[in-house]
Amino acid sequence: MTEITAKQEDLIVRPSAGLSLRGKIRVPGDKSISHRALMLGAIASGETEIAGLLLGEDPRSTASCFRALGADISELNEELVRVRGLGVGGLMEPAAVLDAGNSGTTLRLMLGILASQPGMFFTVTGDKSLRSRPMSRVVKPLQQMGAQIWGRKDASLAPLAILGQKLQPIHYRSPIASAQVKSCILLAGLMASGKTTVTEPTLSRDHSERMLKAFGAEIEVNPDTHSVTVTPSELRGQKVVVPGDISSAAFWLVAGAIVPDADLTVENVGINPTRTGILEVLQQMDADIEILDQHSVAGEPVASLRVRYSQLKATTISGDIIPRLIDEIPILAVAAAFAKGTTVVKDAAELRVKESDRLQVMAAQLNRMGAKVTELPDGLEIVGGTPLQGAEVDSYDDHRCAMSLAIAALRASDTTTIRRAAAAAISYPNFTPTLERICQ
Ligand code: S3P
Repeated sequence: MTEITAKQEDLIVRPSAGLSLRGKIRVPGDKSISHRALMLGAIASGETEIAGLLLGEDPRSTASCFRALGADISELNEELVRVRGLGVGGLMEPAAVLDAGNSGTTLRLMLGILASQPGMFFTVTGDKSLRSRPMSRVVKPLQQMGAQIWGRKDASLAPLAILGQKLQPIHYRSPIASAQVKSCILLAGLMASGKTTVTEPTLSRDHSERMLKAFGAEIEVNPDTHSVTVTPSELRGQKVVVPGDISSAAFWLVAGAIVPDADLTVENVGINPTRTGILEVLQQMDADIEILDQHSVAGEPVASLRVRYSQLKATTISGDIIPRLIDEIPILAVAAAFAKGTTVVKDAAELRVKESDRLQVMAAQLNRMGAKVTELPDGLEIVGGTPLQGAEVDSYDDHRCAMSLAIAALRASDTTTIRRAAAAAISYPNFTPTLERICQ
């Protein structure tokens, strides 16, 4: 019998010799879409209904910040969350500091909204990880629009203080492909004195553009130049159906691909093309993945994904595909450790400023299990095929590293203890019970 034991913050995985993975899995709601539904609901006029909201700690941080800003958000649940919005410009000045917890998306997107509320004063912060993550990437363009933001080191780190202003429109050419940067500027542009455009070097996830349009904002997208323009607009409350998160499905896709005899189906997964890099790379690696029952739910494409075990082969992951699988690189590193040949990940230096330095954490922790991973300045080199042994590893409180290491442990000999694995609750509260259920 495979043993999966949660012990305080840790997760202990002891796979049996004949482990096989079987079953159907419904992954929780998409994290990016959940944040946006809560935020747009809060600044729209009228009522927004959200079905399938992710109940992870990150969206909870967004909900608590926007409640503190005056939005009426019902108790969070997966069935139906009601948000009574205040209208663009209708937020209230909170008495206390707004705490985004571990969530970069909460803090960076919220900054765009706060900076554009004339005359209101806000203070924002986050946990230890978030307080060390770069904020200049949003503070600088907001300052170019006339925002007043203060903080240590030239307002590059939270905590930050913001005095809302009537902002000027800009055309911002972002040096990085980041949906958080793009979304922050677009949200600030909703109340600017003219049209605001963001151009990115390659296309990042486009959930903000889709949802802003659905809420009635005037949005123009130029796919050739990776540009989006927002005209100051009012938003109207909508019904949002949040699809399952492909970034959470990714753990099962890799588990199914590396555990012999596995056959898993992950249902209701969002397959927005700006997020499906993981499917393309796994298919390049010879993974056996079928995309079934494709349909569209509230403006986002959705499908079931069936994965069966196959011998993977190495690949190179670099360039324009990186933003389309940025959160999946930790679990792709696990896939690569079981692939024939040497996999190279490049152009992924952004991973160093996520919830942890994911290049460093994944290289060090997989090597503790006997993998052959070399850290590159902007990526990883993984020599696949060395057998992994159980070890004591650490997630460094990074949810995606915690879950990636748990999947690696399924194919390691003996027992693996993942320290601080409880971090999974940031984006996947039911990860451990689901893992237990599919292990046979
Ligand atoms: C997100 C964008 C990405 C991603 C993060 C969620 C979003 O971050 O890594 O998990 O919801 O906009 P960057 O914009 O920093 O690349």
